[in-house]
Amino acid sequence: MAETAVLQGRAGTSITAADFDRLRRFFEAASGIRLADHKRELVCGRLAKRLRERGVDGYGAYLRLIELPAETAERQMAIDLLTTNETHFFREPRHFEVLRAELAERLARGQSSGIRVWSAACSTGEEPYSLAMTLDEVLGRRPWRVFASDLSQRVLADARRGVFSAQRAAEVPRPMALKYLLEGTQEYAGTFLVDAEVRQRVDFAQVNLMAMPAGLGPFDVVFLRNVLIYFDVAAKRRIVQAVLQRMAPGGLLFVGHSESLNGVVDGLRTVVPTVYRKP
Ligand SMILES: C[S@@+](CC[C@H](N)C(=O)[O-])C[C@H]1O[C@@H](n2cnc3c(N)ncnc32)[C@H](O)[C@@H]1O
Repeated sequence: MAETAVLQGRAGTSITAADFDRLRRFFEAASGIRLADHKRELVCGRLAKRLRERGVDGYGAYLRLIELPAETAERQMAIDLLTTNETHFFREPRHFEVLRAELAERLARGQSSGIRVWSAACSTGEEPYSLAMTLDEVLGRRPWRVFASDLSQRVLADARRGVFSAQRAAEVPRPMALKYLLEGTQEYAGTFLVDAEVRQRVDFAQVNLMAMPAGLGPFDVVFLRNVLIYFDVAAKRRIVQAVLQRMAPGGLLFVGHSESLNGVVDGLRTVVPTVYRKP
């Protein structure tokens, strides 16, 4: 496609190659993720509605808007719209079996007090609440906490509410659904709420994996799943090293099924594929 070509977005708005490049630089600086050329149409589709809401005429104008120092909230909104947030409860169920076994073993060894788990790209909350339900089942009322973070403020706001559409309940194993999900009534019909005891054990905060605060951790378990795929090898290495620094010795690191750490960092022991132990 020629440099000057424009691409029609789903909403009829078009983006020039030059504006797509500017937008790409903006998002890469904010998230560490470089949008591939084939994401151009996707980007148009995701931002078109926002352009209409702000009444701006085209992507060039929108870029000028988000570059204004006072437009912090709009910049965050653009970042929120550009992130991919697909997730579900108990995604990759094998991981939750491995976690359960680890918790049971620590319990048997008398090392289960104060366990801290981090869901490091938590999206709309399904992952941290799946973790919290698992911890509650094995450790009950002993002290434990889940820390859940993401770059997107929009998904964090959804996650904090802990309200999900009723269809999502099917993703939760039946005995846990009965124990931890409360069916919504009246204006909440068609939704469910995660049990308050479980919700209270989960803390949410915005953390950019490319700029992690020093004071985080140490964590005994980290779920860093289905986010490394968006980064190049150098960024992946930087993120995994920073995560490892925030983990306790002997801690477990879980990555997504297509995110092997082979060739990314050395010195980790593979527990099962995609689950690693910090020495
Ligand atoms: C596909 S979701 C994965 C959700 C969950 N971990 C799972 O496996 O189901 C990826 C998440 O990573 C977040 N993300 C992208 N770049 C990030 C960054 N630089 N720092 C923190 N989170 C980021 C996105 O906002 C999105 O919610």
